[in-house]
Amino acid sequence: MTEGASLDQRVTELAEVASFAPPETFRARARVRDASVFEKADRDRLAFWAEQARDLDWDTPFSTVLNDAEAPFYRWFEDGTLNASYNCLDRHVAAGLGDRVAYHWRGEEGEERTITYAELLDSVQRFANGLRDLGVGKGDVVGIYLPMVPEVVVAMLACARIGAVHNVVFGGFSVEAVRERMAVSRARVLVTADHARRKGRLSAVKSALDPALEQLTDLAHVVVVRAGGDAAEPCPMRDGRDVRYDDVVAAAAATCPAEPMEAEHPLFILYSSGSTGKPKGIVHSTGGYLTGVSYTHRLVFDLDAERDVYWCTADVGWITGHSYAVYGPLANGATSVMFEGAADYPHPGIWWEVVERFGVSILYTAPTAIRACMRWGSEHPARHDLSSLRLLGTVGEPINPKAWLWYHTVIGRERCPIVDTWWQTETGSIMIAPLPGLTETKPGSATHPIPGVTADLVDGSGQSVPEGTGLLVLTEPWPSMLRTLYGEEERYVRSYFSEFGPRRYAVGDSARRDADGYYWVLGRVDDVLNVSGHRLSTGEVESAIVAHEKVAEAAVVSEPDEVTGEAIVAFVTLRGGAEGDPETEAQIREHVSTRIGKLARPSRIVWAEELPKTRSGKIMRRLLRDAVQNRELGDVTTLNDPSVMTALRDRIASGG
Ligand code: WT7
Repeated sequence: MTEGASLDQRVTELAEVASFAPPETFRARARVRDASVFEKADRDRLAFWAEQARDLDWDTPFSTVLNDAEAPFYRWFEDGTLNASYNCLDRHVAAGLGDRVAYHWRGEEGEERTITYAELLDSVQRFANGLRDLGVGKGDVVGIYLPMVPEVVVAMLACARIGAVHNVVFGGFSVEAVRERMAVSRARVLVTADHARRKGRLSAVKSALDPALEQLTDLAHVVVVRAGGDAAEPCPMRDGRDVRYDDVVAAAAATCPAEPMEAEHPLFILYSSGSTGKPKGIVHSTGGYLTGVSYTHRLVFDLDAERDVYWCTADVGWITGHSYAVYGPLANGATSVMFEGAADYPHPGIWWEVVERFGVSILYTAPTAIRACMRWGSEHPARHDLSSLRLLGTVGEPINPKAWLWYHTVIGRERCPIVDTWWQTETGSIMIAPLPGLTETKPGSATHPIPGVTADLVDGSGQSVPEGTGLLVLTEPWPSMLRTLYGEEERYVRSYFSEFGPRRYAVGDSARRDADGYYWVLGRVDDVLNVSGHRLSTGEVESAIVAHEKVAEAAVVSEPDEVTGEAIVAFVTLRGGAEGDPETEAQIREHVSTRIGKLARPSRIVWAEELPKTRSGKIMRRLLRDAVQNRELGDVTTLNDPSVMTALRDRIASGG
């Protein structure tokens, strides 16, 4: 039997095991080995958070921990001042750690760049000065739309250094998504790339953006990073507006002292999908956010900054990248791997080659990636020496036990605890997760809230459900929570604090609590989809489809998918009752791709003469979901015309 096959056999055997204690070798050296940290946090929650916050360097120490006078607008450490880039860079360099590697970067074609803390500090100071030279000041919004290149980190920290608010847009999002996010946040500067590389192909970024940039009246400058490699043609530059990153840095002064910021000064905005078509601009603070990410990054990943090599595979364009590829690890002085490429380029074993090459000891990734690796086969990881790994993490969606066991066996070789971390863009940092040296894990459960965090399950009327299924709520504010939705305070209150009052944050997930008090997050209860761990709203995808000239109406639901978790199914009614054809289908998918991004493309389109609606005209997505998943239809009595569903079921059965 090959090694891959014997590992697979072991995965099957372990399916009988219900829970896993921390491996003894791990436990012996872990930061947290007993429950006293929970007791301490429970005894005095605010004092506990204050202690975590004091691990940061403050220019002015805070005297108040939490101001909840205007709940749900909470203020943490409000009379303190600090700078996030100082905490991520200067203080480590001042402590003599300037030569420590901040990032081992690996490019698509195998190029490597090693960036030390001292080098990163130097680049950040220069680019911060460069941004100032372009007129950026405290409170201004700077857009960032870059691939996974070191300059993305430089740009984020340079903003933080001068109090500018960054607004990163994931490189996989479309030009239209960038335009919209820049427009609503009134960005003054956009930092982007000439080209992006993906699986051996080069795609133009800056020139594709150009037409959209013309419409942005607040945008004064575009900074262009060379990310296309040596072969890339130079991109067109507009005089007076566009500048090259290299020129900006070369012309800028070398020192730029970090400006002390009020703890509540916004560090960044990150747009995420809500249940309507309009994305939410989630605003995070400086002091509370940095407290949350640095604390959880140490605690949940059991970080030993001197020894560990840590790799979070998420793109910086997502909150996971912000919190656990940039701010958390840098605040803790950790050494990270940053990987530009795709998981299967140039071959499906590349991740394991990278783990071996850099001696990665902590790996943090998503269930969808684990399932993809599973599908490519255990022989790929089996070919590499993965003995440097000591801890594995996952995030983004519930992990199915089979993928958990594969990760545990084939990647972790039964030596590494798995931390299944539940959190959201809004929570800023990990909320529910095992402590790897302490918590017994059950495959598929994120276990318990971490010390300092309090959660509950409630029914629709807000009554606690001690055991069984309910709606997940966080029952007390926490430092890294979102502060508001950019420019939409009313929506902030309505989205999170109207259902169960101003103290209980409504998560939007349902979950089950078992007899041992373990939480099992089931999924969203609103119209938010989770495709490959990425959040999309049904409304957003629907409006992109409806924008196509031939389309009259559309409804989007999801169905389970082996690799992506959920896949998008779109029910589409064409104008004038026209019949759908493959060409229109291709156009619609393309339309979604240009409006939002490739990841939002429906995997299936079902042509619907009519959509199921209530008498008041509301589309009943619940029935569509039942129909695509071949389930018994739920209550159809509120339907205006029940025969619509019969026709649709036939359509689905005949393949759309
Ligand atoms: C939603 C948040 C947090 C960074 C990535 C996603 C789902 C996230 C888990 C997990 C079960 C999870 C939830 C949550 N989710 N992690 N470990 N187990 N579900 O951030 O885009 O803000 O999405 O992702 O449904 O509400 P996001």
